This record gives sequence, structure tokens and C-alpha cells, in this order.
Amino acid sequence: MKKFMMLLLALVMVLSLAACGGKGGLTVEEGKLHMSTNAEFPPYEMVTNDGGFEGIDVEVAGLIAQKLGLELVVDDMGFTAALEAVQNGRSDIAMAGITVNEERLANMDFTDSYATGIQVVIVPEGSSITTVDDLSNAPLIGTQEGTTGYIYCSDKPENGGYGEDHVVAYETGAVAIQALLAGQVDCVVIDNQPAQEYVKANPGLKILDTEFAVEDYAIAVKKGNSQLLEQVNKALGELIADGSVQKVVDTYITAD
Ligand code: ARG
Repeated sequence: MKKFMMLLLALVMVLSLAACGGKGGLTVEEGKLHMSTNAEFPPYEMVTNDGGFEGIDVEVAGLIAQKLGLELVVDDMGFTAALEAVQNGRSDIAMAGITVNEERLANMDFTDSYATGIQVVIVPEGSSITTVDDLSNAPLIGTQEGTTGYIYCSDKPENGGYGEDHVVAYETGAVAIQALLAGQVDCVVIDNQPAQEYVKANPGLKILDTEFAVEDYAIAVKKGNSQLLEQVNKALGELIADGSVQKVVDTYITAD
């Protein structure tokens, strides 16, 4: 009888393992964790000289994959495409300095937040735009397509935006900055950390003191994929609690 119980127990364990880990398992590709991103967003994700990927998101995702016993694969694409990839089940997670907002919450699920983003305004030195309030004087605003910077600025004036006519959406933040340097737009609204990097790399630009909006960054998973969400969230929580996330942040963002 005891032997039978042991056998039964073993069978139950094998079956339940098969149910959660086995074929057609938790992720898009067995043994891999696919992260869709837009690696044009320093210091969160960028392409290295040799065509690899680095940045805070890339490294934190690598640590999460490690905890889940998976190999991280970075799939680089446009920002909007990176969000769509996770909704369509072509990637497991989207990690791209993604701000949690209501519209996105309706279309995908998010982990707890791992960072704060602040929308700021970049202007050429000597610009007549000196505070965020000056954005109401109808300057032409550059943004990255699909980002919250674009969403806020292009919103109707009655909702606190400036209207689509006053906003240009570029493929990447870097292209928006080139447009600013070329005088094609009067300012760029973008997240604070990439803003710092762009201003450091391009003399003659500055960031206005006044902040535009404060946001939470989180990792997106396909809506309803609660098993993956739980596992990623647990791994992320552990990495935040033991200081690993902060350690990664500190290697990319130095207080100066
Ligand atoms: N935080 C902003 C948003 O979620 C911008 C993110 C852009 N990220 C990127 N990797 N290009 O809309």
C-alpha cells in the first residue's frame, strides 16, 4: 500500500511538472525569455558597438531570465512594435522604459514598477522656452512616436495637451534630438535619463528645470498570462529587495 502511494505521488508530481514546465511551456521559445525592446533609449537599452545590447533593462531582464532558468533573447524593434510584440505573444516580456498608463493597462499586464521616469523638456540654450508653461505658446514639439511624451503633448488642449498640429513624432528619441539641433522643432519632450544622455552628447542643449510628468516604468507581459507575470514579478521583487537592480542602475547612472 505504501509503495502504491509513493508511486501515485510520483505520478502526480510528473504530471504537474509537465503541466507547468513542459512542451509549449511558459515562454514563446522553450528555454528562452524573449524581451522585445527599442534599443534607442540610453541608459535603459542601447546597441553596443559590436551589435549587442546593453543598458539597465537589458541587464535586469538578464537577471530575471537567470532566476527563471531561461536564456535572455533581446528582440530590438520600434517602440510601438515592442509593445505590440508582447500583446501578440511574439515576445514574452516587453521592457523598454515603458511607462504604465491606463491605455496600456487595458491591453497588457504589468509587473510592479522598477524605476521612475520623468518627462522633461529639452531646448537649445538661449531658447525663449524657459518653463513648461511656455509650451502653451505653440512651439513645435519633437517626441518619439508612441511614447507618453507624444501622447501627452498631442492631446487636445482641453485635456492638457497642445494638439497634434504642434507635435512631431520621430522614430527614435535620437532622431528627435537631431531635428532639434537642425532647428526643425523648438523643443523635445522625452524621459529624463535619455534626455541627460542626449544633452551630455550634444553641446548647446539644456533640460528645463520644471518637470512635465512623473511616471512608473514596469515590465509588460501579455494580458492574462498570469503565470509568467507572477514568475517575472517574483524574480523582479527579489532583485529589487537584494539590491541587484540598484547595482545595475548605479553602473549606468552616476550622480554628477
Ligand atoms: N517612458 C516612455 C513611454 O513609455 C518612453 C519609453 C521609450 N522607450 C524606448 N525604449 N524607446 O512611453
